[in-house]
Amino acid sequence: MGIEQKGKLEGQTAIVTGAGNGIGRAIAMAYAAEGAAVACADIAMEDAEKVAAEINAGGGRAMACDCDVSRPEQAEAAVKQTVEGFGGVSVLVCGAAVFTPMATLEHLSVEDWQTAMAVNVTGAFLMCKFALPHLRQGGGGSIILIASQLGRVATAGQTAYCATKGALLQLAKGLALDHCQENIRANTLSPGAVATRRMLNRFDDMETAQRVWGAKHPIGRLGEPEEIAAAAVFLASADSSFMTGTDLLVDGGYTAW
Ligand SMILES: NC(=O)c1ccc[n+]([C@@H]2O[C@H](COP(=O)([O-])OP(=O)(O)OC[C@H]3O[C@@H](n4cnc5c(N)ncnc54)[C@H](O)[C@@H]3O)[C@@H](O)[C@H]2O)c1
Repeated sequence: MGIEQKGKLEGQTAIVTGAGNGIGRAIAMAYAAEGAAVACADIAMEDAEKVAAEINAGGGRAMACDCDVSRPEQAEAAVKQTVEGFGGVSVLVCGAAVFTPMATLEHLSVEDWQTAMAVNVTGAFLMCKFALPHLRQGGGGSIILIASQLGRVATAGQTAYCATKGALLQLAKGLALDHCQENIRANTLSPGAVATRRMLNRFDDMETAQRVWGAKHPIGRLGEPEEIAAAAVFLASADSSFMTGTDLLVDGGYTAW
């Protein structure tokens, strides 16, 4: 008797925000490899188009959505485009986030604070708000908010970022409780520091980021986007069917000491 090999996300339709780069890109690629149709939503449309093209060229199914998640009409349009193109939505990954300048609170501009909240938190709220009716209509699904280990512990000079990521932990718990009877699960996925271009906002180069920031992780290095994507596949698939309202830390041990 042969064992049938099926992708873990066969038949699923996913929207991934922030899919144009880094962790979101890796999640989009991993979902497509597991059989999902993927809408790659990003404010950087060219980047989203490249990711979608790469998936399609490899035999997967993807589309790009031009979307600033902090704008209600664009968040709604991205969901609509996905439903029209792929027939529904069963997985939503909210990964879009801005880089907020390093500063103590009194030196952070009001505008930078408001942008961090608008993209990182309100963006997730909007995507969930507009996707939820479709998740329900399709019989359920999984919502994954990309938070951070810095949603649990703080670090100097990043108060706004930490506050937005802490907010996502509570957002997922509330969603989980409101929708668990509808077979809709909601969790956060919290990476430790990962080797993406985000590191280059803070460090001169990736080598310095590895040496300085990687060393803060007991494992002794930065994570790779694919290591976070593997956890995102788990949270989207039936393997995590008894998991909702919680936070999955994939942080190289950062919060263990
Ligand atoms: N890299 C890390 O060390 C790390 C650690 C913990 C958590 N995270 C989180 O993981 C997620 C991805 O981070 P990354 O390192 O891959 O970052 P990245 O900068 O490589 O990718 C972020 C993507 O989000 C998009 N984006 C930004 N603003 C947007 C908006 N308003 N609407 C739509 N898209 C928008 C960008 O264009 C980009 O493609 C973020 O939520 C981040 O906070 C990253």
